[in-house]
Amino acid sequence: MALVTTKEMFDKAYAGGYAIGAFNVNNMEIVQGITEAAGELNSPIILQVSAGARKYANHTYLVKLVEAALIENSNIPIALHLDHGADFDICKSCIDGGFTSVMIDGSHHSFKDNIELTRRVVEYAHSKGVVVEGELGQLAGIEDDVNVSDENASYTHPDEVEEFVDKTGVDSLAIAIGTSHGAFKFKPGQKPQLRFDILDEVSKRLPNFPIVLHGASSVSQEYVKIIQENGGQLADAIGIPEDMLRQAARSAVCKINIDSDLRLAMTAGIRQVLFANPAAFDPREYLKVGRANVKAIVAHKIKNVLGSENKA
Ligand code: G3H
Ligand code: 13P
Ligand code: ZN
Repeated sequence: MALVTTKEMFDKAYAGGYAIGAFNVNNMEIVQGITEAAGELNSPIILQVSAGARKYANHTYLVKLVEAALIENSNIPIALHLDHGADFDICKSCIDGGFTSVMIDGSHHSFKDNIELTRRVVEYAHSKGVVVEGELGQLAGIEDDVNVSDENASYTHPDEVEEFVDKTGVDSLAIAIGTSHGAFKFKPGQKPQLRFDILDEVSKRLPNFPIVLHGASSVSQEYVKIIQENGGQLADAIGIPEDMLRQAARSAVCKINIDSDLRLAMTAGIRQVLFANPAAFDPREYLKVGRANVKAIVAHKIKNVLGSENKA
């Protein structure tokens, strides 16, 4: 089976009340951990690559690693997606270079400029059979440069979504309802909250249209504890509660982006091996434990958060 777009995955996920996990990949062990879990659980999956991942590992290496994963897990549909494409050129480069889906992140531009940029990417992508994710609203990060007194400014405005989708032709839309990137999403003592009212309003205005949630790591306290017990410093790392993500997955949300949870899982494994064995220096010894942790956390997400087990 070749790499697929997200079209059929999203149609089925929307109808079935589950979501597809979009996991960030940066190296072989991460690709293997994610796809081994998805393959064993017969789950469709999206592997996504950021500009930073392309810089770190090189476009061609990442595409070939994903193609290898496809051969090893031929029972499941896999889409290869550009995460947070900043401009037309990076989207074009990924479209021409084997990706089946791209995100053009124009959320920091004006509404008008976001539409213009997104439409240009959509025209090119669709001419090549590639799908496009757009974004409206900016994710709030508690430590990001967000005007707290004007908190609503970072949320998606539901009254903009129809015009945006109509004018751009995007295939899916990322919205901001209170998730944020990274491992420090809420302050200690702060009650994690997502604006499900905005999600409901958006999905009423865009019937049967796939919505995307970024910044959806839950920051497993089990891995945070292991990291801290093995020489790491990660005080006050807090994520999105899993029950909220399950609720989102049952709704119009068809794609849930997870990166930080994989970073924590891999780091916990590597720290554990190196802390317990200061003389260890064979990378396979610690990377295989990191990889096993990535596999375990992805399996957990598929079964308990996304609901995509046996949906391949
Ligand atoms: O949303 C951002 C992803 O976690 C990717 O992060 O740009 O450091 O690769 P990165
Ligand atoms: P997390 O940092 O919550 O894993 O979000 C990842 C993401 O949104 C990638 O686009
Ligand atoms: Zn993101």
